[in-house]
Amino acid sequence: MEEEGGEEYLFKIVVIGDSAVGKSNLLSRFARDEFDANSKATIGVEFQTQVVQVDGKEVKAQVWDTAGQERFRAVTSAYYRGAVGALVVYDISRRTTFDSVKRWLGELNCHCDTTVARMLVGNKCDLENIREVSIEEGKSLAEEEGLFFIETSALDSTNVIAAFEIVIRAIY
Ligand code: GTP
Ligand code: MG
Repeated sequence: MEEEGGEEYLFKIVVIGDSAVGKSNLLSRFARDEFDANSKATIGVEFQTQVVQVDGKEVKAQVWDTAGQERFRAVTSAYYRGAVGALVVYDISRRTTFDSVKRWLGELNCHCDTTVARMLVGNKCDLENIREVSIEEGKSLAEEEGLFFIETSALDSTNVIAAFEIVIRAIY
């Protein structure tokens, strides 16, 4: 049954990954087409909703963003509660953020069941000249862990909408 706004589905998607990989900018690029070169570390939890068309139906994506830094994080179980999709983000120009992906997946697996649609996101692909993680490494980790994989740039908009849409379609 359609509601007043014509939105029939509400999907909660969480974005996780180390500090400064670009989680907040991926969200602001997706929801408002904005990028902030001087964005501050997130404190606590923020979310934005964005309506997306999937097969002619309106899907409301409620995307949650939290701090990569442990000391700024809010209650973890509440953050993950009800999530049906997840973007696990690293920065292709900082290998340490890629090494952390397994830890983030561990946390996700602790709080969500395996039906959650997961996407591994290598962000900042505009920084090709200082790349530390190859596309092949990203792909093979994603394969190993059963995740979708994409490289994005919140700076130049590459694949940002696609990253969210692929997850939303997988849920839908
Ligand atoms: P926390 O909130 O601390 O967890 O960090 P975050 O993952 O939300 O990172 P944020 O979006 O705040 O971005 C960190 C820095 O990276 C900022 O200076 C951004 O401008 C920059 N940044 C984000 N995305 C990109 C990108 O795609 N390319 C480049 N070159 N810089 C980016
Ligand atoms: Mg942030």
